[in-house]
Amino acid sequence: MSKLLPIAVLTAGLAGGGYLQLARAQAPAAVSPQTASQAVASSRAVLDQYCVTCHSDRLKTGDLSLQTLDLSDAHGNADVLEKVVRKLRKGLMPPDGRPRPDQATMDGLATSLETALDRAAVVAPNPGPERYGRLRVRQQCGGAVDHAGADGSLHDGGHED
Ligand code: HEC
Repeated sequence: MSKLLPIAVLTAGLAGGGYLQLARAQAPAAVSPQTASQAVASSRAVLDQYCVTCHSDRLKTGDLSLQTLDLSDAHGNADVLEKVVRKLRKGLMPPDGRPRPDQATMDGLATSLETALDRAAVVAPNPGPERYGRLRVRQQCGGAVDHAGADGSLHDGGHED
């Protein structure tokens, strides 16, 4: 009798998951939950391997712990994530001489965190100074296109921060 239970649970799980996915697929700007959580998992793996040696809850090097930082809550952790992205983009972390992942992994981590930040800003805009700066640049960029020539040349003018 008890052998049936796992199957029942599995079936219910699949049905529930399918329904959830359907519901989310209809939401605007939906990102598949799998993709988002895979991104979180691989970002977490990189942080654990290359950053938490120093940025642990115990050591808090640079007054920063990344050990229990919830990467799935980009909105709540926007300040810290912005700092992390900045360090990664400038190649400042991990510090010189420390093991670091290859460039593709570093870029992948930075991009994945930026994507999460941007999505969080769309879902629940609460611009701190940093977020505000990023959003405003985008808006100006969009405005500039209206006044640009037909080729929209201003748009590609490198507004990255
Ligand atoms: C060898 C130890 C070490 C490792 C490994 C390391 N860091 Fe750091 N980190 C530091 C030190 C020391 C500081 C403070 C000095 C500074 O800001 O450069 C710091 C500062 C930071 C800050 C700025 C904190 C603030 O509040 O301004 C961020 C963000 C950061 N690290 C992210 C990372 C990330 C992401 C990784 C992994 C890719 C990483 N660090 C790996 C030692 C480390």
